[in-house]
Amino acid sequence: MTDLMTRRFDTLGPYSPLFYDRPIEFVRAEGVWLTDVNGDRYLDGYNNVPHVGHAHPRVVAAIAEQAATLNIHTRYLNDRVVDYAERLLATFDDAIDRIVFTNSGSESNDLAFRIATQHSGAPGILISDFSYHGHTQALARVTTGLRAHEGLGGHVRTLRVPDLDGQDRGLPADAVLAAALREADEAIAALQADGHGVAAVLFDSLFSTEGLNRVPSGFVSGLADRVRRAGGLVIADEVQSGFGRTGRSFWGHGNHGIVPDLVTMGKPMGNGHPLGGVALPAALLDEFGPRNMYFNTFGGNPVSAAAGLAVLDVLRDERLVERAHANGRVIRDALAALGSEHPWIGVPKGDGLFFGVEVYDRPAAAADALPDPARTKAVVEAMRDRHVLISRIGRHDSVLKMRPPLAIEPPDVHLLLAAFSDALTEVEGRANAPISAF
Ligand SMILES: Cc1ncc(COP(=O)(O)O)c(C=O)c1O
Repeated sequence: MTDLMTRRFDTLGPYSPLFYDRPIEFVRAEGVWLTDVNGDRYLDGYNNVPHVGHAHPRVVAAIAEQAATLNIHTRYLNDRVVDYAERLLATFDDAIDRIVFTNSGSESNDLAFRIATQHSGAPGILISDFSYHGHTQALARVTTGLRAHEGLGGHVRTLRVPDLDGQDRGLPADAVLAAALREADEAIAALQADGHGVAAVLFDSLFSTEGLNRVPSGFVSGLADRVRRAGGLVIADEVQSGFGRTGRSFWGHGNHGIVPDLVTMGKPMGNGHPLGGVALPAALLDEFGPRNMYFNTFGGNPVSAAAGLAVLDVLRDERLVERAHANGRVIRDALAALGSEHPWIGVPKGDGLFFGVEVYDRPAAAADALPDPARTKAVVEAMRDRHVLISRIGRHDSVLKMRPPLAIEPPDVHLLLAAFSDALTEVEGRANAPISAF
């Protein structure tokens, strides 16, 4: 244990997660490269908060300039904040024309729950049975996707999110869809029968915690229709999937062909500066606002707005969404090709620059193949040895998770892929060893 780890545990306690068997101490970063305390450089294949690249000079300058000019809470007029609200709202469907700023994804989802609960007059929540949406009390009561979590609230019903490339592989998509929607009907009926009603369904448009599930077409829209018929609202959590991450549209819900009632956002929004928001139609805000004087000291302050505006500028000027699409395709094709060399990895999952592959204990195509978390962890550590950061997700912690900053350029894409191929070969060599070797 290093001295810094000891000091961390002695002050912050040992419960806050740390990546890797040998945690890394980073001292600076630029673009898609991080430098550790020894001066070694690591390629970032993991972090989505530095969305437009670590320490992007335009974002840094915008924050510094605004911080040196004015930073104040939100009870005064400030044009930068309104400029940002206008620019951000322009990225949404016309129906979504108001934004409330917050400081994090958790605050955004918590506020969305309040709005939905007051709108419907009912507390009932539908949530995926393996998901994470934040750390407030209301969200802790719907958390299903952490190894340790408190009990679900009585007002919560869970749904299994189908996955045509995972648990449901090989099954006909229409049968998978029908079963999933039947489960939604049953969950809604149970909430109603137990007197909870339906306030909302909350889902991550990429189903990232679940493991980047490929849901059958019609699943999200079918779920949304059912929730609305029951009097509830549809909350799209775009903390992971927003700001062009999927390369196909600016917001992940666009890929499901729906317009949600509430869109929540966070992580990439300020490129590391704490910034979140809830976007919604005016009618919903007009219902909530008069009954709740919502005030957020830091949410939507001028420095946050400057960071958010700079992120939007860079996304546009560096064509990062288009690049996410193009680089994502290159990576997907390469991962698919690696699957024929290493049949124990599944088909590429995800969208744009958020992708993963499930790791199995035998050829993925075998009917009795099981997810293999130990082998997955071995690949993540083997990538770390090659100075490339990735991680793992999913119900079994068996989906390798790759999600570089959108600013990644083709040469670094190729480095990432070369390291990945190498790491798979190394782990495959060890696969014949007893499983305890992992
Ligand atoms: C999908 C999703 N929603 C919400 C959150 C919570 O965001 P924050 O940590 O900014 O509160 C997270 C964090 O990982 C997330 O992945």
